[in-house]
Amino acid sequence: MTGSEQDPIEVPSTLVNTLVKAEQWVVMTGSGISAESGVPTFRDAQTGLWAQYNPQQLATQEAFKNNPHVVWQWYQWRRELIRNTSPNPAHRALVELQRLRPNLILVTQNVDGLHQRAGSTNVIEFHGNIHRNKCSHCQKPGPESEAAQPPDCAQCGELLRPNVVWFGESIPRVALQAAAQAIETCDVFFSVGTSSLVYPAAALAETALTRQAVVVEINLNPTPLSSRADFALQGFAGQWLPAITDLVRAG
Ligand code: OAD
Repeated sequence: MTGSEQDPIEVPSTLVNTLVKAEQWVVMTGSGISAESGVPTFRDAQTGLWAQYNPQQLATQEAFKNNPHVVWQWYQWRRELIRNTSPNPAHRALVELQRLRPNLILVTQNVDGLHQRAGSTNVIEFHGNIHRNKCSHCQKPGPESEAAQPPDCAQCGELLRPNVVWFGESIPRVALQAAAQAIETCDVFFSVGTSSLVYPAAALAETALTRQAVVVEINLNPTPLSSRADFALQGFAGQWLPAITDLVRAG
């Protein structure tokens, strides 16, 4: 189902007034923004072959060490699924918002690369990118691969793995610093399609609240952030973001 098939929405006029004036925007996105493209959210039940596996148990160093083949296969399946999807109206609205507000900084927890495919630039990838690989030992980047088994690293001979952040791993330092710096000066912070459960990503909204930026959440369901956000807009990202973009453009 897409946002356009949903009930009409109305952006609160107080929010519109704020957004029209706001120069420094930070938008943090989570897997909900790609749900309308057909990419299952992280916590959604996996389908078919993978229904028996819990993503939180596959996306770990431990899982890869114990069973690299299964973890690699799961990523190959997700890579293929993502390659067959396209950016949706929410991704495209953010491209237009970035054109209208060139200072807008986009931070994504998503590893699917759909923001970049839509045309967003300077995307801060908080959790890496599923299409890239790196060595599980020496960490050097490796080539993309469609192989059924994890290939060997050309540098050290150990196995390549997807270049994503797994549970228990640190956020890439450059991404963390760039996001923290953006929050320091933002007027408005959007949290879109994320459950606000996974730290340190969820802490970005908390910093924005502490800094008294206007915090706007867009989500189908309430989250731990909803009651503290200045505006909690319930519904589809593919419906709210285009509506907001139109109003900012109309100014
Ligand atoms: P989750 O799967 O935890 O949450 C997705 C959120 O999107 C939920 O709150 C849904 O209500 C909301 N949602 C679903 N469809 C939506 C739509 N069309 N419009 C608006 N909201 C919608 O995904 P994330 O919060 O992204 O981390 O998860 C964060 C991180 O946890 C992921 O990056 C991943 C995962 O564990 C790592 O891999 C380290």
